[in-house]
Amino acid sequence: MKIKDVTFIASYPKASECPEGVKPEFAFIGRSNVGKSSLINMLTNKKGIAKVSVTPGKTQLINFFEINESWYLVDLPGYGYARASKTKKESFSKIIRSYLTQRSTLYLAFILIDIRHPLQAIDREFIDWCGANSVPFSIVFTKSDKIGRSQVSPNVQTIIKELLKSWNELPPHFVSSAETKEGQKDILDYISSVIDASSIEVNQEVINE
Ligand code: GTP
Ligand code: MG
Repeated sequence: MKIKDVTFIASYPKASECPEGVKPEFAFIGRSNVGKSSLINMLTNKKGIAKVSVTPGKTQLINFFEINESWYLVDLPGYGYARASKTKKESFSKIIRSYLTQRSTLYLAFILIDIRHPLQAIDREFIDWCGANSVPFSIVFTKSDKIGRSQVSPNVQTIIKELLKSWNELPPHFVSSAETKEGQKDILDYISSVIDASSIEVNQEVINE
């Protein structure tokens, strides 16, 4: 898929205030600093459209970006920021959880995991929570440029193997880098295929009626 047009729509403090409508949404979620905003910039080829920071906890609201006037990329606040106050942590987690469970237009959440580290407990808990709440997701490993090429596959396999201890099977996963743009085409093509599959489903329902 080619991205021709990217428009920042607005930032919202909670799910109930997000735009109403029928356009498909693809959200980016993961630990603070994992690279959610950077990945959105990389996918859209727009440096700086989503705000990036070396300090964790930069994204604090639900940010909507409209793509090709037909679907949304959604940048969410991170979870697990150790230095956030307890109240802030709880409010982040409430924002994320209500967004993920209340948006009927959410087609898929990309859960981002830093490829450099072993699976963290908080990521496992979050992925298991998505499963328990029927949130459709896919995993994106970030920052692949920060490790050697020969380390990419072993690191991915270690994390996947760990997750398979509590999952029978997992949705597709992707390896990405905001620096080298690794993963850009695969992730955009996957989004495209998810949108196409759902429009086929809708048409099928119309035919069946
Ligand atoms: P919060 O909004 O605070 O939750 O963080 P975030 O997940 O949106 O992370 P963000 O995109 O702000 O990136 C955090 C830091 O990691 C920044 O310093 C980025 O430049 C860096 N970073 C993100 N992705 C990559 C990547 O693929 N490669 C490298 N080398 N650095 C990256
Ligand atoms: Mg961010």
